[in-house]
Amino acid sequence: MAYNLLKGKKGIITGALDENSIAWKVAERAKEEGAEFTLTNAPIAMRMGKINELAEKTNSEVIPADATSLEDIENLYKKSEEILGGKVDFILHSIGMSPNVRKGRDYGDLNYDWMMKSLDVSAISFHKMLQVAEKMDFINEGGSVLGLSYIAAQRTFPDYSDMAQAKSLLESIARSYGERYGRLKKVRVNTISQSPTMTTAGTGVGGFDTFFDFADKISPLGNADATSCADYCILMFSELSRMVTMQNLYHDGGFSTSGITQKVIDHWQK
Ligand code: NAI
Repeated sequence: MAYNLLKGKKGIITGALDENSIAWKVAERAKEEGAEFTLTNAPIAMRMGKINELAEKTNSEVIPADATSLEDIENLYKKSEEILGGKVDFILHSIGMSPNVRKGRDYGDLNYDWMMKSLDVSAISFHKMLQVAEKMDFINEGGSVLGLSYIAAQRTFPDYSDMAQAKSLLESIARSYGERYGRLKKVRVNTISQSPTMTTAGTGVGGFDTFFDFADKISPLGNADATSCADYCILMFSELSRMVTMQNLYHDGGFSTSGITQKVIDHWQK
């Protein structure tokens, strides 16, 4: 159901790789709600993914950009401004990648060059996108910038490895930049801490199926799926959340405040 929540709003959506990506669902919902946006992903993902299919479906253009490159981000913003005919009201940062996780390196045997890459791609890129936006004065007053996080920023999930540090940094950047951008331009910066979700990034984490099931059983509402996460992103881009900033918002079916649930008790009593 569409409510015209983003009518007249312009934005940038990063990270749509295929139809399972959270960003893919956000793009579909943003379109339904009346937004115009550009899509972007790392140049390598263009070849592997299906972003052009999404662009066609949402009548949007794709601008390749490596989110760790300041030059690419500047180009992304310049081209987006030309295409959209103005500055943007929202940006979705939906980017995560750890070479250590991808290559199965143990947490006690991390490759530190790879760890720096994890932090750069998954967290510092968020700061870069904000800093370049501020310098170019690219976001309209009252605009909303969102990153996607995971509760491994607060609690340990062994297979999540150095991505836990990346998510802690991401959430910290949202607070620090949220203070700055709010004061300067009334731009809001938040992270949404999402349930485990069946996507390329998600299923790349070892033991994913087990912690997907565990989270589902310990969340009174069950795991939140990518479509409901997209709905929450739309709410955060809309005027309805205009006074919310510098928050890490749990979108997890209640996981983050559950101790034990009946579903877990039933499982262990089997
Ligand atoms: P996904 O694999 O569909 O999306 C990750 C995206 O990051 C891909 O499109 C990839 O091409 C992009 N990316 C990687 N390196 C990049 C770079 N250098 N420059 C630009 N883009 C780059 O997976 P998903 O799950 O949709 O991930 C989106 C976000 O949601 C990530 O931040 C992820 O950590 C977060 N998240 C995912 C959860 C899950 O269980 N799937 C749970 C909580 C948060």
